[in-house]
Amino acid sequence: KILILDFGSQYTQLIARAVREANVYCEIQPYHKPVNYEAGLKGIILSGSPFSVNDEKAPVVDVAAMNAQLPVLGVCYGAQLTAKLYGGRVEKSDKREYGRAYMVKQQDDSLLAGISDRSQVWMSHSDSIKELPEGFEILATTDSIPVAAFRKSQQVGKSESQKENSGLSDFPLYGFQFHPEVYHSTEGKTLIKNFLYNTCGCSGDWTPAHFISETVSNLKQQIGDKKVIMALSGGVDSTVAAVLISKAVGKNLFGIFVDNGVLRKDEFAQVIETYKVLDLNVKGVDAREHFYTKLAGKTDPEEKRKIIGNTFIEVFDQEAHKLTDISFLGQGTIYPDVIESVSVHGPSQTIKSHHNVGGLPDTMKLDLVEPLRFLFKDEVRRVGVELGIPHDLLFRHPFPGPGLAIRILGEVTEEKVTLLQNADAIYINGLKQHGLYDKVWQAGTILLPVKSVGVMGDERTYEFTVALRAVTSVDGMTADWAHLPYEFLAHISNEIINNVKGINRVVYDISSKPPATIEWE
Ligand code: XMP
Repeated sequence: KILILDFGSQYTQLIARAVREANVYCEIQPYHKPVNYEAGLKGIILSGSPFSVNDEKAPVVDVAAMNAQLPVLGVCYGAQLTAKLYGGRVEKSDKREYGRAYMVKQQDDSLLAGISDRSQVWMSHSDSIKELPEGFEILATTDSIPVAAFRKSQQVGKSESQKENSGLSDFPLYGFQFHPEVYHSTEGKTLIKNFLYNTCGCSGDWTPAHFISETVSNLKQQIGDKKVIMALSGGVDSTVAAVLISKAVGKNLFGIFVDNGVLRKDEFAQVIETYKVLDLNVKGVDAREHFYTKLAGKTDPEEKRKIIGNTFIEVFDQEAHKLTDISFLGQGTIYPDVIESVSVHGPSQTIKSHHNVGGLPDTMKLDLVEPLRFLFKDEVRRVGVELGIPHDLLFRHPFPGPGLAIRILGEVTEEKVTLLQNADAIYINGLKQHGLYDKVWQAGTILLPVKSVGVMGDERTYEFTVALRAVTSVDGMTADWAHLPYEFLAHISNEIINNVKGINRVVYDISSKPPATIEWE
């Protein structure tokens, strides 16, 4: 295991992803939490930070104390902090260095094994290391800075007392001024792998198969012969979590999948069928009428969201009370939901915690089982593939919890849901058939609350309009509208208008986020 100490950099999670990609397990922890030197911990990486090491409130850790026990790698701020603490000089650069630079090797080191002589790296800093501390040496430079990579000089051969006097330990200590974790540092992944394998001696055996066997055996221990209840949504996280729990406790997992009336066309039946194939013990609950009754007359988006959330908890609670002796609640919580983030306005911390499928009803005092708590989304998918979960389910687009209710602008009625489901199915199936589904991040159809005039044959129509939405994005925080081919849009427009009675107009949403959002409500 590798520990990443976070100093608040926007790239910290990328370091973790790069380490995991090298099949080495790692965790991120705020810099101010004490390090637990447990068995199996093989190295520490210090992240970047928006701070300057010379700021009054700059976050500080005792690098020497860490390096006395383990290899340490500082990245950007982490490197500057290391240099400063050991007596080096870090100052504001004459020119700020942002973006592309070329790292030039000055000496050989196992950390730079396999790296080109001129390697593109990505800089993002306004301070730089002007002078290294005594006992440190330069590994690489760039055209504009003298210290792009450094190491503490090798201590081998010195007597114990000499080592003690120098204050330097035997464990390697490295620093990179640039960000090896970002995409534009073209050999950054190799640099990180070199640190993991060559410096820390990690074996790279943290694979999906390894994760599964370890997790299932932990779950067996945690749960024993007790019972687990869990809400499933048909989504990636809850399905993968449920399969893992089911591998550990079999039919002692009681899954509940609620049809809230605002799922996609045929989704309820299809998902239930998949759960059957996966041999999950899941009960499908048809609560459509209940949701429609609660939603009747409601037009405000936030109110609709609240109603769906609360009604879900109500239905889930009711089902839970039909079961006896339940001890645990299973959840598909993933790592980005639980990473404690370091605030740039000081060491205060905020903890995000959200539950994708409903919350824990207050009246149910259950312990949580969260087998995906330490996985990133792409890792959840890799585990899902290894578990044999169908590709369609694992690689589906994100779908909001309140479902089609926030894609029917204004009041939600059963008739409108059917109309939208039919139009949406044509669009989504079309994307799949034309090989476009995997090229967009998310797509959906929105039913607008306006009717307009059309003509079909000799008949005048007065019907609804749907908007098609498709976006490209990485995380849903920002998004661009997808430039789908005109021919495809023309084809889908025809299909919808000819096959869905009640819709006579199709428009395509060409707004990016920001300033628009992905959903219309
Ligand atoms: P927006 O519309 O904010 O959407 O650009 C960003 C992402 O979040 C999803 N979304 C939701 N997901 N409950 C959810 O579980 C919600 O209430 C909700 N609202 C938006 C949206 O589908 C997109 O992926």
